[in-house]
Amino acid sequence: MRAGVREDARVNLQRVRIGDAVPSVDLGVWRTPVERAPRLAARIGLRPDDLWVKRDDWLGLGGGGNKLRKLEFLCAHALEELGATVLVTGGATQSNYCRLTAASARRLGLGVVLVLTGDGPAGAAGNLALDGLFQADVRWAGEVAADALDDVVAVVADELRSRGERPAVLPFGGSNALAARGYLACAAELEEQAPGAEHVVVAVGSGATMAGLVAGLGAERVLGVDSGAVLDAPARVAAMVEELLSVGLSRAPRDVTLRLDQSQVGPGYEELTDQARRALDDAASCEGLVLDPVYTAKALAGLVAAVERREIRPGERTVFVHTGGLPGLFGHPLASELAARTGRSR
Ligand SMILES: Cc1ncc(COP(=O)(O)O)c(C=O)c1O
Repeated sequence: MRAGVREDARVNLQRVRIGDAVPSVDLGVWRTPVERAPRLAARIGLRPDDLWVKRDDWLGLGGGGNKLRKLEFLCAHALEELGATVLVTGGATQSNYCRLTAASARRLGLGVVLVLTGDGPAGAAGNLALDGLFQADVRWAGEVAADALDDVVAVVADELRSRGERPAVLPFGGSNALAARGYLACAAELEEQAPGAEHVVVAVGSGATMAGLVAGLGAERVLGVDSGAVLDAPARVAAMVEELLSVGLSRAPRDVTLRLDQSQVGPGYEELTDQARRALDDAASCEGLVLDPVYTAKALAGLVAAVERREIRPGERTVFVHTGGLPGLFGHPLASELAARTGRSR
């Protein structure tokens, strides 16, 4: 490893092998449980034993969630290949990924700069409160699209370089083929925990989570539900699967047809739909399971829609991958609406 990596980061660096020798750091990712959800299954038209929840919302550090599996690889690359002293990345004001990048930086003894869309923290809590707790250096980029956000991130990285830092710029949403390896590992867990599961349903943002699952399980078993975070989710997922295939890490063939439902986006990213609202309520009232309005509620709504159109049928084992996002619930306008609902017992 290069000089300059702080001692505490070195301690966390380990090598794991997933098909080939690619390093990852330890961010507290562990084999998450798979739980039955019998009442929710019955509510949405499946049999009680059909529906299982993979609890990736329980993944370790910083409030948890799927991004940690990806960050274990991205951070190892930042440390080993780039000798990074600071992590830099961009995302939405309520980005779970940015929050977990900040937590990961702290775990590894690194600095962290987040470039967020929007004009400032007014009224925002949720993930942003945790960004503050992790003492992230937050820069506001205004209301810009993903490409323009990347440009601002590049400018910030230059500024850091000019101050003698070694910034590692992590990709938008933490998604590239390297990061997708984190979900190859999750796919391997699922093969053991829910062998023969016919459907694995997951929220799609920047796409590496679905890409890793498709590479590990095959495209026919994975149903991705687009959250609207990017405009070209299918192309992004397909490109990452293809890159994994090129290094012998994908079960899915070239030009594979993805099961990617784009009908749940509604008016746009972060906009709650009636279907997502119902899914969020059903998960909470049937199982005590908390979904977030931006990703996992839309994913469950996509699962329900697949049952309605009989793409998923009673008797078929189905795993819903809970990817986390709880802090985002507290940063969404829905939170105050839910608080106002209290007092009316059902
Ligand atoms: C809670 C949650 N679930 C799912 C996703 C989607 O993951 P990916 O960007 O790998 O598609 C995200 C992305 O931000 C997320 O925060």
